[in-house]
Amino acid sequence: MTEKLILAIETSCDETSVAVTKGTGILANVVSSQANLHRQWGGVVPEAAARAHVEAILPTLQLAISNAGIALEEVDLIAVTNRPGLVGALSVGVSAAKALAFALRKPMLPVHHLEGHILSVLVEPGLAFPHICLAVSGGHTELILVHQPGHYEHLGSTIDDAAGEAFDKSARLLGLPYPGGFELQELARTGDPLRYQLPRGLKGDTTNFSFSGLKTAVMRLVQDEGERLDRPSAAASIQKAIVDVLVDRTVSLAESKRVTTVTVVGGVASNESLRVSMAHEAGRSGISVIIPPKELCTDNAAMIALAASTRVSEASFDLSFETTPSAPLG
Ligand code: KG4
Ligand code: ZN
Repeated sequence: MTEKLILAIETSCDETSVAVTKGTGILANVVSSQANLHRQWGGVVPEAAARAHVEAILPTLQLAISNAGIALEEVDLIAVTNRPGLVGALSVGVSAAKALAFALRKPMLPVHHLEGHILSVLVEPGLAFPHICLAVSGGHTELILVHQPGHYEHLGSTIDDAAGEAFDKSARLLGLPYPGGFELQELARTGDPLRYQLPRGLKGDTTNFSFSGLKTAVMRLVQDEGERLDRPSAAASIQKAIVDVLVDRTVSLAESKRVTTVTVVGGVASNESLRVSMAHEAGRSGISVIIPPKELCTDNAAMIALAASTRVSEASFDLSFETTPSAPLG
């Protein structure tokens, strides 16, 4: 691990973010969210996202530099998310990063967005390798055996919707605003999680997930119950259906791989019920759980800088790397 001063830019979806880190220390992590913009359409509109990134990128960069208390010239390298994501959105961050690198004559490192989430846990002291990482966001639901930074073994994933999508689509059916995961968690606080029986997806010994059946069941529940629907209990039951399956699979996999640490990363890792339930269930099997602070779970540039900090020797003055909407990890 190095103590280089890293400037990172993340614009893969609907958050414009710029961070400055030194080693695993975060000097600044500014996130400008477009959630209020996209709420009117009930989801991210790619064209609008790209345009909003263009407007936000320079003020976000200026604020990050000022929060970090550094001059741009002091930066040692520039990291940027170049894959996967909305190509127009990614291009704004990549173009800004390349322009900066060119003007300041600094080397660059393109970073995979999912690797950023996986390595967001580097801020936590005492992180052990190997560990099982549950990466859960709006686009991902993955179980990964992390041997070392850069060495990932993919062991399971969703066969349809991501966990974040399951939260967001269910929230929408309950009449909650986009993106919905956090709103559903708040509505669930006063509900009874055992009130409604909802499906848990794939049965048996599997490391994969399926959430499309849950969405259909929630749709039917909302239609059948109509005015009678106990919305807080519906939210609590949905949250439990998603959390139960995430926790069960992760803990079982850690046990079968004889791994003593699991991490949970990505936007859904900020869900309080998931954080509590994972710690409780894993704890019963003597497995420790590491989940980054909530501001490092949802999309942010600090996680991109942390990922870059593990391979600074690969930084290069070659600015010809591409921006790719879909790309496997590694
Ligand atoms: O990692 P992220 O910010 O963006 C992607 O890379 O997708 O994850 C966003 C997802 C959304 O689906 C959002 O609803 C969900 O994370 N999310 C939550 C919570 N906070 C964010 N889901 C459940 N509970 C939360 N508290
Ligand atoms: Zn993400």
